[in-house]
Amino acid sequence: MPALPELNERDLTMGKNYRIAVIPGDGTGPEVVGEAVKVLDAAGRKFGFSAEKTCFKWGAEHYLATGEILPADAADQLRRFDAVLLGAIGDPRVKPGLLEKGILLRLRFELDQYINLRPVKLYPGVETPLANKGPEDINYVVVRENTGGIYTGIGGSAQTGTKDEVATQSMVYTYKQVERCLRFAFETARKRHSRENPWNGLSQEDIAAGKTAQLTLCGKTNVLTHVFGLWERVFKELAPEFPEVKTAYSHVDAITMWMVKNPEWFDVIVTCNIFGDIITDLGAMTQGGMGIASGGNINPAGVSMFEPIGGSAPKYTGKHVINPLAAIGAAGMMLDFLGEKEASSAIDRSMAFVTGNKMESMAAGKMGYSTGEVGDLVVENL
Ligand code: IPM
Ligand code: MN
Repeated sequence: MPALPELNERDLTMGKNYRIAVIPGDGTGPEVVGEAVKVLDAAGRKFGFSAEKTCFKWGAEHYLATGEILPADAADQLRRFDAVLLGAIGDPRVKPGLLEKGILLRLRFELDQYINLRPVKLYPGVETPLANKGPEDINYVVVRENTGGIYTGIGGSAQTGTKDEVATQSMVYTYKQVERCLRFAFETARKRHSRENPWNGLSQEDIAAGKTAQLTLCGKTNVLTHVFGLWERVFKELAPEFPEVKTAYSHVDAITMWMVKNPEWFDVIVTCNIFGDIITDLGAMTQGGMGIASGGNINPAGVSMFEPIGGSAPKYTGKHVINPLAAIGAAGMMLDFLGEKEASSAIDRSMAFVTGNKMESMAAGKMGYSTGEVGDLVVENL
């Protein structure tokens, strides 16, 4: 008979049951999501909640077999859940962009996940390409606007395919889109200041050391005067509502220098969709690469979707060498948003223990462990 899971006091209290939609997706997506679910379930047993998972097999296989990218009512189906956990989307057999746009971007839009929250956090023992920087220097979060800007898709081309071709892709923002994004960013900064929270929080030591909440607007006010004139005006308009948050501004080109040279300057960075897309890949590299970078597509009043921010890494599919920590971190962020703060903190601390004491590298095939063993280590150290 299989051993029964160990009971502790918490199992006897009535915990919440969360309904989680799981989209494993393509390539190594299913492998990393499997580990995230393993950690999620272990955290549930320890902290007294349960997660009822429903799997949606959307992705390349489904598309190649049926010709359908997503069912018409996909967003409605997902709305019935408390949160969505996503593996990765993209497959070499399918034209680049088709699945990414048809699944990832479509769900972000239809579920109105207008924030993409991407912590840039260097865990102990993880190698960073930044010289003389450690975990105390690299710990901030990027709030990327997630449904507007260039991604709105407004534009077109004429005389297409000729030497006279003209093409446009417009950066469009409304006051309301900018306002809700900035408000979320100010609130994120305020929360970091007021309590310890691993995914969007300053540590007690930071607070004791006088590090205050700071929000940096990243824009391009010197050239993109219309759009970033709007962002800057709303930023200044909201600031007095958040007196505990210090405000700063950086042009996007300059911020790529500072993120490399002085990452310790940053606490929360807020920016538009395309700038956020670009600077968070840079941020991910400074925290040890795509193997450990997690993100959340957030609708604060709706269903949010959490994902490792790297791709589907097709060449490692099925080899059990891919790093699952980004997906496990995404599950940790999800628990934070569901209100399971203790469980979320425990996952964060366990990840830090495993990177600091066990793993040799964050790179696929060089971890010193298989994908499943890394998941087991995080479970053992919860
Ligand atoms: C990301 C990705 C997506 C984006 C692509 C796959 C559409 O790069 O999540 O950052 O551009 O947002
Ligand atoms: Mn990207």
